[in-house]
Amino acid sequence: MEKRIPRHVSIIMDGNGRWAQARGKRRVQGHVEGVESVRAVVEAAAEEGVEYLSLYAFSEENWTRPKEEVSFLMDLMVSSIEKEIGSFIEKGVKCVVLGNRARLGEKIDAALRSMEERTAGGKRITLIVFLSYSGRWDILQAVKKAAAEHPEGLSALTQEDFSEYLVTAGIPDPDLLIRTSGEQRISNYLLWQSAYTEFVFTDVLWPDFRKAEFHKALEEYAGRDRRFGKVK
Ligand code: FPP
Repeated sequence: MEKRIPRHVSIIMDGNGRWAQARGKRRVQGHVEGVESVRAVVEAAAEEGVEYLSLYAFSEENWTRPKEEVSFLMDLMVSSIEKEIGSFIEKGVKCVVLGNRARLGEKIDAALRSMEERTAGGKRITLIVFLSYSGRWDILQAVKKAAAEHPEGLSALTQEDFSEYLVTAGIPDPDLLIRTSGEQRISNYLLWQSAYTEFVFTDVLWPDFRKAEFHKALEEYAGRDRRFGKVK
């Protein structure tokens, strides 16, 4: 039988700080090493025929981290993206950044916009980076947008209609969600979108999560029996 490949894989990249601390390094070094894992996993996902890979890079709650770490992370993301953009274009990777972009500041937002525009023609895989994102924020902004567009009221709104107001409009719900570093929770991530998602938790810290680990997660997914609440 052919291996079942998830159409959309999403990852909560966790454990960068602990990876660095275990090596007597500064936490931010863990983020630097984490970028190497991002590169490896984007490549592996494209090779496997995954259509959408999404990464939880920065949550709304992450803004409360020390100022130095936040600005290091933002700079790292923009510089990594700029460094990778040539290879993304070459490999057919389309990049999309989703989240509360108003909080990012004009400079970062402009850099991200330019990356989205330059990779817009990518046909092989869509890489979604969730930045300044949280699931509750997404649901609330969707409710407000829907209400503003329907002054007559929302009583006729269906689940499908509602999905179109989320920042993930047009993107299929994740089939597989991986969380690294041994934590087993959703942490305000894709709350609406993960209703029927399969979860794979691994103790491996994100900087150590490379191609072999990604393949292991895909294998675990392939063995799952997805019923979507129905009887088979
Ligand atoms: C979680 O580890 C990781 C983050 C909050 C940041 C993840 C971001 C990157 C790897 C850079 C992404 C770059 C691109 C190009 C998308 P943690 O700091 O929470 O680790 P800890 O739980 O051990 O403290």
